[in-house]
Amino acid sequence: APVEKGNYRHYMQKEIFEQPIVVAQTLQTYVRPFEGEVALPDADLDLAKVDRVTIVACGTSFYAGLVAKYWIEQFARVPVDIDVASEFRYRQPVLEPGGLALFISQSGETADTLAALRHARDEQQRIAVVVNVPTSSMAREADLLLPTHAGPEIGVASTKAFTCQLAVLAALAANLARAKGRLSREEEIDIVAHLQEAPAALNAALGHDDDIAAMAYLIAPARDVLYLGRGPDYPMALEGALKLKEISYIHAEGYAAGEMKHGPIALIDEAVPVIVIAPSGPLFEKTVSNMQEVRARGGKIVLISDAKGIAEAGEGCMATIEMPEVHPLIAPLVYAVPVQLLAYHVAVLKGTDVDQPRNLAKSVTVE
Ligand code: G6P
Repeated sequence: APVEKGNYRHYMQKEIFEQPIVVAQTLQTYVRPFEGEVALPDADLDLAKVDRVTIVACGTSFYAGLVAKYWIEQFARVPVDIDVASEFRYRQPVLEPGGLALFISQSGETADTLAALRHARDEQQRIAVVVNVPTSSMAREADLLLPTHAGPEIGVASTKAFTCQLAVLAALAANLARAKGRLSREEEIDIVAHLQEAPAALNAALGHDDDIAAMAYLIAPARDVLYLGRGPDYPMALEGALKLKEISYIHAEGYAAGEMKHGPIALIDEAVPVIVIAPSGPLFEKTVSNMQEVRARGGKIVLISDAKGIAEAGEGCMATIEMPEVHPLIAPLVYAVPVQLLAYHVAVLKGTDVDQPRNLAKSVTVE
């Protein structure tokens, strides 16, 4: 049966709002909440023997991979390389036999990612695949198949597949950490508890849809927009910028907050809104000090944080977007929502074709 839009105006909007349910659905495969355990589907692959992980993907799936790098290195202490597929294919990467190559793709058909997978297999890598289409080419060629259960994604700009990828990747990082003897029982129980909090937190984030719709007019006239984030939330800055480019056709760039002073700060004036992604947590003060550098130069800031962060740093911002207070592990999932919604509402204001943006394809099956 064809997927219907129901009461939503666009598929993308519907898919954004499905996230609490599809993330919960996806987590069911990867956590055992009563046992307090993370789990992976059966595969003939010994994670304890994995000494290096190579992540390859394109587009939004690549940003999920960037978050996974932070998680895998933090939890499992296994070194991670990451590349966009079009670079990986042709740069002659050094791959030691026995390494784990991890491919992330909504469609499982992206030509560059599929070619990279085949190259990695030829180089004796074990192949793990995070994919939303279980019948896809990549799914068929995996040693370890890690499905996302986002359901069919129709909007060209990926949303719900992305947060489901993050859920799977968090569980993979925890599984790898356990296999490597890096995860205590207490830590595992904690990770499971935080992952289980994600659907409700996504729901709470979606509860701010009206606020975001009401401030989208501040961004719609801009020619350029900057997104800043740190640590595992830095890829959310990249994703926020990508979403805005894709569907509203506004030029946007995501930057690591601390890197801004090495270039993009030269762009700051009152015409360039700066979206700052800064959940409370270990990196909050650092991100806020980068935000103050923007303010000192007359920059107009939209701060996305929780009530605590907004109370501390919201003064003087052009706008604030409040998120629920969440554990840093699930912050990337939760903070994906406001950047998706902001891009969506700006695009609606501009009257673009949200579900079928010009020049873009849902799945790029040619090189
Ligand atoms: C296209 C889509 C993006 C997607 C990317 C990777 O560019 O427009 O939304 O992130 O392909 O697709 P994949 O199916 O491999 O995740």
